[in-house]
Amino acid sequence: MRKLFIAGNWKMNLDRAKSVDLVRGLADAFRTTTNVDIAVCPPAVYLSEVAGALQGSSIELGAQNVYSKPDGAFTGELSCPMLKDVGCRYVILGHSERRAIFGETDAQINEKLHAVLAAGLIPIVCVGETLGEREAGRTAEVVRGQCRGSLAGLSETQMRATVLAYEPVWAIGTGRTATPDQAEEVHRDIRELLATMFSSETSQQVIIQYGGSVKADNALELLSQPNIDGALVGGASLKVDSFSGIVQAASVVKK
Ligand code: 13P
Repeated sequence: MRKLFIAGNWKMNLDRAKSVDLVRGLADAFRTTTNVDIAVCPPAVYLSEVAGALQGSSIELGAQNVYSKPDGAFTGELSCPMLKDVGCRYVILGHSERRAIFGETDAQINEKLHAVLAAGLIPIVCVGETLGEREAGRTAEVVRGQCRGSLAGLSETQMRATVLAYEPVWAIGTGRTATPDQAEEVHRDIRELLATMFSSETSQQVIIQYGGSVKADNALELLSQPNIDGALVGGASLKVDSFSGIVQAASVVKK
């Protein structure tokens, strides 16, 4: 049984006051929801403040990125111990914006992944194809390649402690979500790959989120697919109503 997991990736949005308002509203809204794991991933400068506002709620804190080294002369970077220190439980790795804008490679993501797992944080590793790759019929090849590269060298236990997020690049921030069938097809393929890389028991335990224009009104259909175990939400995670609508949808899905 996989417990659904909904995470909000705020990206580079909101300010200090709005961040605190948002999590206070979310903490209020989710007081009674227990069958869904929930996390918010604010900009790093607001992590501490948001952690404070989340105290006493079941909502967990996540970061949007991390560096693989624990400390040292790495100007501008943040380490896993620092993220733990301010109360993070999750770290997003290899988001398509980091891959496309900041040139992150599977090898770098893999190095970060090992550091995150060694630190006892839970990674959310993102994969997904561009529109051009989909139209060229290369979706499975691209996603499988990203999974193989990013997840290299993990033990079965480490794989079970890792969350994956399938985020087709063409669906991010575009309002053009993958259809439930399109998303399910890729999720199923990822799970088949995990079965060959690890074991079928491990592949059955890994949480695979979908991300890309998830909204309150399309969440139920997506989350009802057998291999979609949650959502990584961008735009719709910035408002209490829209994010809580997605969590609400997750809470009624029977898996
Ligand atoms: P949107 O939900 O805004 O499409 O963003 C998805 C995403 O990139 C989450 O990481």
